[in-house]
Amino acid sequence: MGLSCPVTKPEIIICRDAGDLALKAAEQFVLLADAAIARSGRFAVALSGGSTPRALYELLGSAGYRDRVDWPRVRLFWGDERCVPPDHPESNFRMVQETLLAKVRMPPENIHRMMGEKAPAEAAAAYEQELREFFALQPGQMPRFDLILLGLGEDGHTASLFPGTSALDETERWVIAVYVEKLQSHRLTLTLPVINAASQVTFLVSGASKARIVSEILASDSAPLDYPAAKVRPVDGRLAWIIDRDAAWNLPSRLMNQSAARD
Ligand code: 6PG
Repeated sequence: MGLSCPVTKPEIIICRDAGDLALKAAEQFVLLADAAIARSGRFAVALSGGSTPRALYELLGSAGYRDRVDWPRVRLFWGDERCVPPDHPESNFRMVQETLLAKVRMPPENIHRMMGEKAPAEAAAAYEQELREFFALQPGQMPRFDLILLGLGEDGHTASLFPGTSALDETERWVIAVYVEKLQSHRLTLTLPVINAASQVTFLVSGASKARIVSEILASDSAPLDYPAAKVRPVDGRLAWIIDRDAAWNLPSRLMNQSAARD
């Protein structure tokens, strides 16, 4: 699977603030879940970690949304995980447990947690095996998530794919363990071939601190930059960026107008 594949233009949705971002992301989640469940009887989604999606998960678990999703038909995965136990404050699983899983009824077998407490390489291999069993593919086929949610770091990282690391060159494995020098910690992450095989990939980005990197990635017409997030180009899927105004303030007006035209 080529990583620098042609890409359809990303849909850019600019939101008033972080709360509006969560609302727009929740509406997309509900729509995609309904469509996937109608089409295939299930909705396979890989959740992002970090702080930005917390408000989305809280919203999805709230009274206004929890009944709009057929949770027993949702299969939850993670795009990446810190190599810590599931009850650790840094755990992406724990964040989803607190904000969403504690509020909705899902069969435990529908929750596919990355085992951050295991040895990193073992956990990565085990998760890849879990993906292979769930997606039950023919040899050579790629797992096709209905939705992969991603965040964006100020350095252009996404999931746990960090600039300048060999993880960006991975073309065979679906899940790898990485040691992130700058964080002095191990992480588990889906690789670019899996991310780019998704039916829908949606970045959720909030805050003025992301404005520079957002504009560098979205406003550049050149070939893929060295930023991992710029290498997210779904081969046969849709790409959306749901961004609040603070993160978007550096975007050229042509992109702001494109977004406004959609409203
Ligand atoms: C993680 C995420 C990571 C995150 C970005 C943005 O496990 O931390 O996968 O890629 O999405 O670092 O994080 P914030 O949303 O906290 O800015």
